[in-house]
Amino acid sequence: MTPSTSSTTSTAKRGTVLVTGGAGFIGCAISPALVAAFDRVVAVDSLHPQIHASQSRPEELDPAVELIVRDITEAQTWDEVLPDVAPDVVIHLAAETGTGQSLEESTRHAIANVVGTTQMLDGLNRSGKLPRRIVLTSSRAVYGEGAWKSDADGTLFYPGQRSNEILSRSQWDFPAAQPVAMSASVVAPAPVSVYGSTKLAQENILESWAKSYGVEAAVLRLQNVYGPGQSLINPYTGIMSLFCRMAKAGKSIPLYEDGEVRRDFVLIDDVAAAVVAAAVADEAHDGALDIGSGEFQTIRTAAEIISRHYGAPEPHVTGQFRQGDVRHAWADVEPAKAALPWEPRYDLEAGIARLAEWIDGRLPAEAKL
Ligand SMILES: NC(=O)c1ccc[n+]([C@@H]2O[C@H](COP(=O)([O-])OP(=O)(O)OC[C@H]3O[C@@H](n4cnc5c(N)ncnc54)[C@H](O)[C@@H]3O)[C@@H](O)[C@H]2O)c1
Repeated sequence: MTPSTSSTTSTAKRGTVLVTGGAGFIGCAISPALVAAFDRVVAVDSLHPQIHASQSRPEELDPAVELIVRDITEAQTWDEVLPDVAPDVVIHLAAETGTGQSLEESTRHAIANVVGTTQMLDGLNRSGKLPRRIVLTSSRAVYGEGAWKSDADGTLFYPGQRSNEILSRSQWDFPAAQPVAMSASVVAPAPVSVYGSTKLAQENILESWAKSYGVEAAVLRLQNVYGPGQSLINPYTGIMSLFCRMAKAGKSIPLYEDGEVRRDFVLIDDVAAAVVAAAVADEAHDGALDIGSGEFQTIRTAAEIISRHYGAPEPHVTGQFRQGDVRHAWADVEPAKAALPWEPRYDLEAGIARLAEWIDGRLPAEAKL
């Protein structure tokens, strides 16, 4: 596969775009393409200490982006920001994103993700000017365990959350059935984490609000995003950067369950291209689109590539598990390829090489976890 180029080639600018959470991983990655596509780019971001250790503007954020350091869950933020900014397009990224953490800090996740969204929508109403489109980055977490296909008769069923009791017996898969790719038109949402539930609430709130006001809602359900720019200090997200740091420190990477958990790791460049394509497309697509690499890899495969890259010992299976983790997840990206001028371009080996190079430039060789 070859490196992606921006999908925004048009020279006609599109007014003002406001990006919530615009100083985060995805916000920084989309910033150069947004600056090229819009007349004005404004990021509203609280510089959350779990992601931004130094509480300062990230160097990855395009210098032309105006950064307003504010909390989106406060009504006052919107009343002070919107009269001046009056966005034509909003890209809503700001969120609490820790799947495991959300079980213990559900209120924090609900306030940022659900109340943050409703405060934004109420603020837009009060401002008297609605944007023409709101792009929401939702998550594969809305599917939970997703749908599985019965070996006996091929019917789809929803196995639901794996209980502690089942997992304690090391029963990882659902017997006599195969998982299917996550595709919004085939698989119904059924979240098994608080985080996933808040992302689904965001989708539902946005879609009903937007339909009532004639605003376009473009929902992208992202798989596991990784790559240069991801937080190296947030212990709750970013398995790929954690694996890289372990292997770089000469450690054997521990694999949860039996190591055969499937994930769709999609490089940040491919995700950035999809988000920008959804923001600038002439018309918003109908219904959620799934964004991933379109292929699954096992956690073992990803860990082996990373270990080889750093010359670290082989990964080892621990049999541990985490409540809220789903067994298998990957996206059917064909609907997104048809709806957007977009396709995933990076495979896992190329993406890991990019991530490792970026981490090596930031962490000294002797860095320990
Ligand atoms: N990265 C992934 O793997 C992934 C996968 C699926 C979905 N998503 C979604 O994509 C979006 C962006 O993810 P990311 O990886 O860039 O996350 P990130 O944590 O790097 O960025 C989120 C940004 O939001 C800001 N923020 C958090 N709470 C805020 C608040 N109350 N007010 C203002 N700003 C606030 C943070 O400071 C941070 O800069 C999120 O909505 C997330 O749910 C990400």
